[in-house]
Amino acid sequence: MEITKICVVGAGQMGHQIAMLSALAGFNTILQDVNESALEKAKCNLQEIMDKWVTKGKITEEFKESSFALLTFSTDIKRAANDADFIIEAIVEKVEAKQELFKLLEEYAKPDTIFASNSSTIVNSLLAKVTNRPEKVINMHFFFPPLVMDCVEVVKSEQTSEHTAQITMDISKKLNRTAVLLHKEISGFIANRILGALQREAVYLYENGYADFKDIDLICKKALHHPIGPFELMDLSGIDVGYFVMQQRYAETGDIADKPFRCIEEKVEQGHLGRKTGKGWYEYKKYEVKN
Ligand SMILES: NC(=O)c1ccc[n+]([C@@H]2O[C@H](COP(=O)([O-])OP(=O)(O)OC[C@H]3O[C@@H](n4cnc5c(N)ncnc54)[C@H](O)[C@@H]3O)[C@@H](O)[C@H]2O)c1
Repeated sequence: MEITKICVVGAGQMGHQIAMLSALAGFNTILQDVNESALEKAKCNLQEIMDKWVTKGKITEEFKESSFALLTFSTDIKRAANDADFIIEAIVEKVEAKQELFKLLEEYAKPDTIFASNSSTIVNSLLAKVTNRPEKVINMHFFFPPLVMDCVEVVKSEQTSEHTAQITMDISKKLNRTAVLLHKEISGFIANRILGALQREAVYLYENGYADFKDIDLICKKALHHPIGPFELMDLSGIDVGYFVMQQRYAETGDIADKPFRCIEEKVEQGHLGRKTGKGWYEYKKYEVKN
């Protein structure tokens, strides 16, 4: 099966950069979002990043131009899905929203098209069950920011075929990313489960008054050699993203240990979501941390 056209659904923090990776790898790529302004923002952001890559000598101006020529944008899901060979879903982390989308994809995409989900936590069998092609549904989990982070977790469900897994691994390689295949699905996969355990402990210690969040970050960096503290990392990836992940996990397990912490809930309610809103745990002035 030859993959020539990739469709990325959702042009947020993750989707727009995954689409750029795909175009840089030479795939004919379409980026779809329900929100026109998300597509506009995606275009501007990618232009800015690629201009920087040219200035730094990472790519040539010609390569940048030829990659952008492969990338189109649309709000029309039918047009975006109907001739794609491989679809990567990167919409909001809500299982109902993703299931609604997968139903539409089932309707509009070709019968042999593979559906990959970039979800941080939702296992693909939950999405595959609304389609007629469970063997062609897989998790393809990139890390933030996808244009920088060199790792993709590829996760099979019991029904995902070896062929689908192989194609997804091959595409990850073409996107210049190190791909790791997980043989069994588990909510949160590997990296986020390990990270989640660390963040849960960090927030527990803060919420129960053992230390200030800045000092917890400092200890992780100085004593554990982490490049970035757990609170700084929450700000970077979006406090709401982590919150939805915990909510989703809690809904699946019912385990009180998975319940989102009150201080996280408060940040989400106040709209203090991290770098993207200028305030989260820390305050930001154009990409700078104000301690
Ligand atoms: N942010 C991270 O660090 C990170 C890392 C890895 C994976 N993920 C996963 O990637 C996915 C997207 O996360 P994000 O941080 O890019 O979110 P985001 O909120 O930045 O972007 C989501 C985008 O999806 C669009 N959207 C919502 N419903 C849609 C629909 N039905 N059809 C088309 N577009 C739709 C929204 O308009 C928005 O532009 C989530 O599943 C998340 O778990 C996030």
